Amino acid sequence: MQNRLDEIRDGLLQKLQEAKDGQQVEQLRVAVLGRKGELTAIMRTMGSLKPEERPAFGQKVNQLRQRLEEALDNKAQEIREREKEQRLKDETLDVSIPGLRPELGVEHPITATMNKIVKTFVGLGFSVVEGPEIELDHFNFELMNLPKNHPARDAQDTLYFSENILLRTHTSPVQARTMLSQRPPIRIICPGRVYRADEVDATHSPVFSQCEGLVVDEGVTMADLKGTLASFATAMYGEGVKVRFRPSFFPFTEPSAEVDVSCAACKGKGCPTCKGTGWIEVLGAGMVNPHVLEMCGIDPNRYTGFAFGIGIERVAILKYNIPDMRLLYENDARFLQQFGKGR
Ligand code: DAH
Repeated sequence: MQNRLDEIRDGLLQKLQEAKDGQQVEQLRVAVLGRKGELTAIMRTMGSLKPEERPAFGQKVNQLRQRLEEALDNKAQEIREREKEQRLKDETLDVSIPGLRPELGVEHPITATMNKIVKTFVGLGFSVVEGPEIELDHFNFELMNLPKNHPARDAQDTLYFSENILLRTHTSPVQARTMLSQRPPIRIICPGRVYRADEVDATHSPVFSQCEGLVVDEGVTMADLKGTLASFATAMYGEGVKVRFRPSFFPFTEPSAEVDVSCAACKGKGCPTCKGTGWIEVLGAGMVNPHVLEMCGIDPNRYTGFAFGIGIERVAILKYNIPDMRLLYENDARFLQQFGKGR
């Protein structure tokens, strides 16, 4: 009997040494001490012993049970501690590893240009007004002195929703909306998106941006227009930039002009950006046509005004020397990131 007890003890202690995890320890506990375990089976044989042998035998088995339980508990504890240590090691943070830099977005060049333009005019005393991109023919054309069948309508390839509802082709309708709702003196700019049925190429896009300007007051003259636009050009491109007015035609202004600034890329000497001319056209302007004032409820005998419409992409292309307008719309991060520096 003693031999069998020694066998059980040695067998368990041996296997316990090799146990690798808590589950193996538990399996050993069940195999020896469980209800159907080896030691339990021996305890059950007690009935076959003589009554006087039983107490000594029982004591022996119980002592062994206690010893084995202790050994099992110690091993389980040892394994738990080892596993905890390993876990702590695995979860250690190396604070000296360089971090991942979060990628910061930058202002889009069109937004940056628009903001700069708005800031410049606000500095000159203008307020900012916005109008709807889905516009009525009435504001986009009629009140801008472009009645139905007017030939100049063809110049603006309009996207229509219905006969009278369209995507605005310019920011000029905001002029009419403002004059109908405000009394002079009026001094506003209207930044925003405009739409035309144009094919995409290096200089065209069906969606682009403009900034309209309108000043109406007593005694406003062409000299005020020239002075205002000269200040704008200097703010945008720096001292020394030249501004040139060329006679032109717009139904909503009389007289009208197209305004060029000297090419920033070649300082006016002539290069591919300015197609060798030394000048780049950035806006249309003129004195508000008295008929427009009248249609918008302003007395043309008392008030005069000037207006202008700036092409934002043109200004941006010139400012940043961008060779192709499509770059502005493709949103290639490699292109856009360049505009994040030096801000
Ligand atoms: N609306 C014109 C366009 O989209 C630009 C323009 C020209 C606006 C002359 C004006 C202006 O206010 O006076 O081509």
